[in-house]
Formats: sequence, structure tokens, C-alpha cells
Amino acid sequence: MTATFWDKRASKYDEVVRAHDDDFEQVLSWTKPLLNSTDVVLDFGCASGEYSLALADCVNRVHGIDTSEQMIALAQRKKDERRVLNASFDQVDEFSGSLDGDGFTTVVAFDVLHLVDDAAVTLARLRELVGTGGRLISTTPCLGEWQPFVRLLIQLAQKVGLAPRIAPFTLPKLESVVTAAGFRIQEVRTAIPKTATRWIVATAR
Ligand SMILES: C[S@@+](CC[C@H](N)C(=O)[O-])C[C@H]1O[C@@H](n2cnc3c(N)ncnc32)[C@H](O)[C@@H]1O
Repeated sequence: MTATFWDKRASKYDEVVRAHDDDFEQVLSWTKPLLNSTDVVLDFGCASGEYSLALADCVNRVHGIDTSEQMIALAQRKKDERRVLNASFDQVDEFSGSLDGDGFTTVVAFDVLHLVDDAAVTLARLRELVGTGGRLISTTPCLGEWQPFVRLLIQLAQKVGLAPRIAPFTLPKLESVVTAAGFRIQEVRTAIPKTATRWIVATAR
């Protein structure tokens, strides 16, 4: 269901994300100073690749993965148009064997951990991919912190296929699942107050 859901929304999503709104720019401005020219970055749930392409100039290499075929097609097209030579994209999920041994030093997971089937299992896999000392930089909306009325609207939207399944994280729950997967949290900031979106930086223990 997830890939089909995002395939249908890929071109509209790309139109919006290309505009680099204030929230996008803020996440970039917090993330870029943490990266350097030796970093090999996995952009998990990269969608149409806008973050991957924006981060490419300050790292050694960035590899974006997404299960949506349409999203990856858009990312690939923009990479070619913008001639970003150190970015690559693949339509796979986080469990793909193609990612093993790729030497990732950092995984960015923007707006995706609330969408996976089991965040604990996904985070354990991301921790495996970056290895001890590797980093996770993420943003995650915490649905569990939203007003009950808004949560009800989301549930209705999910029933008619207008919203994906979303894990109802509270901030403590999100922090505990990141920690339990083998990461030590370094920093937490509120990225988007109205969606209770948290930016978390963590290092693999
Ligand atoms: C809300 S979009 C966020 C995209 C991008 N990171 C951003 O912040 O603009 C979520 C994306 O995650 C992808 N996704 C969800 N579960 C995934 C999984 N297990 N593996 C790879 N991609 C996944 C979806 O296809 C979708 O493109």
C-alpha cells in the first residue's frame, strides 16, 4: 500500500518539495554543519531526492532509497538535470542486501520513521548499516502529541485512503525506540511545532 500511495502523489509531492519552504531550509541548515566531505550518506525514504541533492555538495557521496518507483524516477531525473555526480538512487527498502557493505557513515531519515511497519526493526537495520559511531539524523512528526480532534481527522483520512498509516509517536516513545535500537541521542529540537516534528541526532553505540 505504501509504495502505491506515494507513487500516486509523487509529482505533486515533488512540486511542493522543490520550493524548499522554510521548514525544508531549517532542517537543511541544522543538518549540513554535521556533515563533512568524508561522509557517505544514506537518505532513507528519499522520495524525489530533494534532500539528497541538496546535501550532496557537502559530503563524499549520498545514496537515496525509496520504495516508490515514481519518486525514484523523479530523483534520478533531477540528479541528471542538475548533474549531481555523487548522488545515486535506488528503488529499494532499508532491508535490501544491496546496501550492505556500502560504508555509510550517516543515515538521514526525514519524515519517514512514522510511516514504516515497525520503527524498532527499521532503526535496528539503520543502526546496522551505519555501524558503531555512525549517525542518524532524522525528523519525525509525533502524532501522539497532536490534538485528539486532529488525530480523529487523520484516522478518517486513512479510512478513505487519503493518508498513510502513521505510528502515533509521542516524543518519549520516539526517543525510547531510537535508543533501544542502539543509538545514543545527542540532540533533539522541535523542527515544525504545528506537527510536533522532532529533529533528532543520534550516534550508534
Ligand atoms: C513523507 S515522504 C518523505 C520524503 C523525504 N524524506 C522528505 O522529507 O521530503 C516519505 C517517503 O518515504 C518512503 N518510504 C516509506 N517507507 C519506506 C521504506 N520502508 N523504505 C523506503 N522508503 C520508504 C515513501 O515512499 C515516501 O516517498
